[in-house]
Amino acid sequence: MEEAALQEHELSLLGLKRRIIEKLVRAGFATVEDLLYHSSREIMDRTGLPKKVVDDILSRAAVIADSGFKSAYEMLITEKMKITTGCKNLDKLLRGGIEVGNITEVFGEHGSGKSQFAMQLSVMVQLPPKDGGLGKKAIYIDTEGSFSSSRIGAIAKFRGLDPNIVLSRIIYKRVAGVFELLYSIRKAAKLVRDHDAGILIVDSLTAPFRLEYQGLAALAERQQKIEGALMKLARIASYEEIAVLITNQVVESPGTKKTNIGSVGGHVIAHVSNLRILFRKGVGNKRIAMIEDSSFIPLGETIFVIKDRGITDP
Ligand SMILES: Nc1ncnc2c1ncn2[C@@H]1O[C@H](COP(=O)(O)OP(=O)(O)OP(=O)(O)O)[C@@H](O)[C@H]1O
Ligand SMILES: [Mg+2]
Repeated sequence: MEEAALQEHELSLLGLKRRIIEKLVRAGFATVEDLLYHSSREIMDRTGLPKKVVDDILSRAAVIADSGFKSAYEMLITEKMKITTGCKNLDKLLRGGIEVGNITEVFGEHGSGKSQFAMQLSVMVQLPPKDGGLGKKAIYIDTEGSFSSSRIGAIAKFRGLDPNIVLSRIIYKRVAGVFELLYSIRKAAKLVRDHDAGILIVDSLTAPFRLEYQGLAALAERQQKIEGALMKLARIASYEEIAVLITNQVVESPGTKKTNIGSVGGHVIAHVSNLRILFRKGVGNKRIAMIEDSSFIPLGETIFVIKDRGITDP
């Protein structure tokens, strides 16, 4: 790397030896924040640098980015930013909508409306703030192929938006498996920044893990991988001040009303996501949404319906 290019490189802010910066750059780290999105283990693996050096790099990066430290007042402002769901009942349940800065998890059985909800949010985020959106784009990672452009078109039209403009403001990626999913999540922080997105959606986060890590023997590794992905998503939510919405299919245990939330990633997700909403099927197009776990919203439930124009009040 040329001396001038090196001096201009953002990583030169770290005040490290040239040799070390070059190693970081060669390993694909472009910005100070990039480093903070990775664990010391990952940086060690990618650069071959010893732990002591990597820990030093990370502590310098933290000082420069001044990340993670916000005044409680700033946090209050971010916390207040919500994206309307487009359904009054759900907004009331969620105290205004999906929260910026945090992970919201929607979990429920097949056909309960998780993907419909995810698609709707990729439209609602684009509404201007006066109408409950953020006036921003959506990043959409689809692991099951349930995303439908014509569905988005119908939802957008009903909200008075131009379907083609709305579609052009959804940055979409279909991923095939765990490897590609984790890769896309790693790339997501930069995408969010480049596009000034307001929401990052992963529908579904858990499906690829369920497919690729089957049986009891694979359980520990699966949970660990899911947790890693969630930690990254939590960091993106907080550093980029963006809403993160993930979905998780769970299976109803026959004979009990209680959902078997232990099925995929259950307790791991519960620890990381700030808000868990359970969707259940009701009669016809009716669905029940229930707050399962939240540090800031009282438990409660409500009803919504899935119609041609999207998710609305009954
Ligand atoms: N255009 C539409 N008009 C009315 N209802 C629709 C329309 N499209 C889909 N639905 C309803 O949405 C439901 C499917 O919801 P969705 O795909 O969001 O489920 P899901 O929770 O994501 O399921 P899975 O766990 O299998 O991914 C179906 O019951 C279907 O009837
Ligand atoms: Mg789905």
